[in-house]
Amino acid sequence: MKPIQVGLLGIGVVGAGTFHVLKRNQEEIKRRAGRGIEITMVADLDVARAQSIVGSGVQVVNDARAVIANPDIDIVIELIGGYGIAKSLVLEAIAAGKHVVTANKALLAVHGTEIFAAASAKGVMVAFEAAVAGGIPIIKALREGLTANRIQWIAGIINGTTNFILSEMRDKGLDFGVVLKEAQRLGYAEADPTFDIEGVDAAHKVTLMSAIAFGIPVQFDKAYVEGITKLGAADIKYAEQLGYRIKLLGITKRREADAAKGYSAGVELRVHPSLIPSKRLIANVEGAMNAVVVNGDAVGNTLYYGKGAGSEPTASAVIADLVDITRLHTADPLNRVPHLAFQPGAMSDLPVLPMGDVVTSYYLRLRVADEAGVLAKVTGILASADISIDAVLQREADEVGGEGEVPEGTRGMPQTDVIILTHDCQEAHMNHAMALMQALPTVLQPIVRIRKEELA
Ligand code: HSE
Repeated sequence: MKPIQVGLLGIGVVGAGTFHVLKRNQEEIKRRAGRGIEITMVADLDVARAQSIVGSGVQVVNDARAVIANPDIDIVIELIGGYGIAKSLVLEAIAAGKHVVTANKALLAVHGTEIFAAASAKGVMVAFEAAVAGGIPIIKALREGLTANRIQWIAGIINGTTNFILSEMRDKGLDFGVVLKEAQRLGYAEADPTFDIEGVDAAHKVTLMSAIAFGIPVQFDKAYVEGITKLGAADIKYAEQLGYRIKLLGITKRREADAAKGYSAGVELRVHPSLIPSKRLIANVEGAMNAVVVNGDAVGNTLYYGKGAGSEPTASAVIADLVDITRLHTADPLNRVPHLAFQPGAMSDLPVLPMGDVVTSYYLRLRVADEAGVLAKVTGILASADISIDAVLQREADEVGGEGEVPEGTRGMPQTDVIILTHDCQEAHMNHAMALMQALPTVLQPIVRIRKEELA
């Protein structure tokens, strides 16, 4: 049988990796797919550079629409990124009856509902393994390998840039800004790292995993997103002393209704720095590596680990999708694996819970005046909000008036850091308690609050 023909839109780092791996492993891939898979046409604005990557045997054009219009092309790989032209091209490729492979998490997290509906109506597949955690086959695991399970929660380190920064902060005791500059110098962080450090990239990825895990529509706009820019070296150090590490986690959880506790049913969908026990395997994922823990009711916890970015690791995921499509494209569309794991007519309307409804535990650090009765007032406020304390640690402030703003007149005053770990409570209750604590004249700086996940 003649090879299936693939058109590639955008040949940057991942596109080049895809081309090279397909070529290098073509025999092995053909034995798996049942026929050859060939990239026969590439669109890139820099035609000369693209041609130098793929050689003279592949047609290179500067117009992506020429690839979509080519009737010989069965599959279009979109590696342009972003929500702009990439969205138009993906929808045009679907309308032209092409199957699509994309690594574009931002596009699918925001416009996935429209794109998957268009693909289903046209009877084509949109595959996106490379969009989440690079080379880790987490979409395949969630959508197929764990299909027997009622998935309860997912927690993942799904942004390598921020994991690299947090690892360096912990290893070297440095603050965020210093490490970010170093990461940029080494090429780990983009010149504009906003999406990574503000948690947006991780939120795109966890939005996709949440949809597949719970059979709900992709709802990036409902995700709570908090990055790592405000983390200080002091909190990483205190967390360590308490037996925890701080990681940027993408978390999604199923929450059952509980009338006694006032909880409604829904799905938590959030990205923020989290304390996790140092003894958990995922707490020991260092540098730019990614890892995802999935908890299913039958299987328990499963852990997936690997490279979340990079040329060939991401190409590995892109090509896995090409093989899937090659195997399945002649199948009745109704017998294919649904885009979001659940049949389109069987999606759930379980709401994404607002952050105030989320239930979790907390690390709080309060810089307080070191005088009698301060701790009693703080713990009294927590008790009145029905928030139970798990542990308390008091440490001399590194230097009087160390990090952060020191209110007028308090410099030179005896000060101390009080670190409190709480048990689970609803975020709205914690917000209320924090406002009361912050208003105490003996609380000298903005309270640091970091959420805590036991991942048991
Ligand atoms: N910028 C991402 C990361 C990789 O640092 O993990 C692509 O999503």
